[in-house]
Amino acid sequence: MSRIVVTGGSGRLGRTLVSGLAGRGREIVSLDRAPTVQLAAANVSQVSLDLTDAAATARALTDAKADAVIHLAAIAVPFSAPEDVILRTNATLAMSVLGGAVAAGIPKIVAASSPTVLGYGAPTEWSPERLPLDEDSATLPWNAYALSKLLIEQSLAMLQRQTGDRVRFAAFRPCYVIAPEEWSGAPTQQGHTVRERLDDPALSAPALFNYVDARDVATFADTLLGALGDIPNGEVFFVGADDALAREPLADLLPRFHPGTASAAAVLTGSAPAFSNAKARRLLGWRPQHSWRAELAHADDGMDVHA
Ligand SMILES: NC(=O)c1ccc[n+]([C@@H]2O[C@H](COP(=O)([O-])OP(=O)(O)OC[C@H]3O[C@@H](n4cnc5c(N)ncnc54)[C@H](O)[C@@H]3O)[C@@H](O)[C@H]2O)c1
Repeated sequence: MSRIVVTGGSGRLGRTLVSGLAGRGREIVSLDRAPTVQLAAANVSQVSLDLTDAAATARALTDAKADAVIHLAAIAVPFSAPEDVILRTNATLAMSVLGGAVAAGIPKIVAASSPTVLGYGAPTEWSPERLPLDEDSATLPWNAYALSKLLIEQSLAMLQRQTGDRVRFAAFRPCYVIAPEEWSGAPTQQGHTVRERLDDPALSAPALFNYVDARDVATFADTLLGALGDIPNGEVFFVGADDALAREPLADLLPRFHPGTASAAAVLTGSAPAFSNAKARRLLGWRPQHSWRAELAHADDGMDVHA
């Protein structure tokens, strides 16, 4: 059985990711500012600490004697704090957790980045060369959150230059995460329900109609950890659903909200998403299992979709 440290395990994504990994036989230690009853009920070890405290974080990482770390802890929402606070906090967390993991001798290090590193929604202009977006698309962050996420990716690359292949690294960019309870009406990260995001495309347009079920991120993380020794070191992956969170084709919707995307968006017919998950499929054999159409249909039927 492998032992994995997850930072931010009490969060929206962390709770489902930790439960999913524990359900696959991984032994988890969650490091978070606050423990959560959901993980306590699942018998997950939880350590409460402020991860910006580098010395305390280094001790916790050493004590964990882990085979891998998945770093999620962050200020996770753009503009939810002053720009300097977001940049400072997420950068500090990156150094204390990722640097601390290397110092603790943890051989596999994975961190959550964000699709926002691509810079869509910039108030000046953003027009992608091509759609769907993929891992080769240009990174053009336009706010402190996106910049801090690019810094996390670059921190992994920096550490890899220090350690070489003695340590295996990867970053992943989850699309807009939907936790299982959100399919039946709990508010999503931005405060509205999934149905409200579908009924009013203006709500989902800032994220380019992207989404992913948190359970699919859990299977992605599990698959990634299993494959880290066999794929090139330092890879970055988008983790998104197979379809867009929209009732109309993005070929029609995207240009309405993002001027300058019309010609690139023409290929996004049917339910095609703006972000490709082909790299994760190609390198890892991972595929998302959940889609909004099936999940909302289950919720309508009153079926338990949270298993
Ligand atoms: N939710 C999404 O849609 C989404 C999309 C893309 C990327 N991400 C990234 O995924 C990760 C998880 O996102 P989330 O939605 O679960 O966020 P969240 O805010 O729900 O959870 C973050 C967790 O980190 C913990 N944390 C933050 N600062 C800490 C500190 N100094 N010390 C200890 N713990 C601390 C918080 O207590 C919280 O439990 C983040 O890195 C986020 O940027 C999330």
